[in-house]
Amino acid sequence: MPQSLAWLWYALIYMFDHRLVSARLVLEPIREGHAEIVFERMSDARLWQFFLHLRPSSVDDLRALYRRWQAGGASDAPGQVWENWLCLLHGDLTAVGSTQATILPDGTALIAYATYTDFQRQGYAREAVQCVVSHLEQQHSVRKIIAEMDRRNAASIGLARSLGFVLARDGADENDIAYELTT
Ligand SMILES: CC(C)(COP(=O)(O)OP(=O)(O)OC[C@H]1O[C@@H](n2cnc3c(N)ncnc32)[C@H](O)[C@@H]1OP(=O)(O)O)[C@@H](O)C(=O)NCCC(=O)NCCS
Repeated sequence: MPQSLAWLWYALIYMFDHRLVSARLVLEPIREGHAEIVFERMSDARLWQFFLHLRPSSVDDLRALYRRWQAGGASDAPGQVWENWLCLLHGDLTAVGSTQATILPDGTALIAYATYTDFQRQGYAREAVQCVVSHLEQQHSVRKIIAEMDRRNAASIGLARSLGFVLARDGADENDIAYELTT
């Protein structure tokens, strides 16, 4: 590739890639090719205790999901932007979890997160979500961030509270509560 084209290529990657960096983590936009790397950790049933139906059943399943995420949005939901990250340790790039944001046209974002079982309770989810919250505020002017969860999911509730999210919805179903952060 001629040098001028190479520079253009790198400039475009820099402008449109939503890679994030925190003290211990690189949050790399999820790509289809990540499926093989994380399938074993992602298929651990303990991660899916409250939403077992979403557990990927094969590498192909996960690859198809990551392909849709990589595309960045849903054709049936115009105006939404999806951003998904794999959380990797600086240095050896071990994958410790993932996090995601769905940015809605009204300036609200929904977030979700997971830390693979062997890496839990080491502050990785808090660090990753803090990084995503700053990104959503600064790059997308998001003003309200919502995390939906199951009422029995003590870890997710604890994480949300530790980040300053407050209870915003307590629905009739046990899988329907939401914590919210207004920035
Ligand atoms: C929820 C989850 C992402 C937390 O990840 P983590 O990396 O272990 O969380 P952190 O180590 O960053 O914990 C940050 C804070 O969250 C709270 N927390 C985390 N795990 C907790 C648990 N099992 N019980 C209660 N509070 C918990 C604590 O306040 C913790 O701070 P502390 O360790 O200083 O007390 C992880 O348990 C997970 O992946 N669960 C399965 C997937 C899931 O349910 N995702 C949420 C979908 S809505």
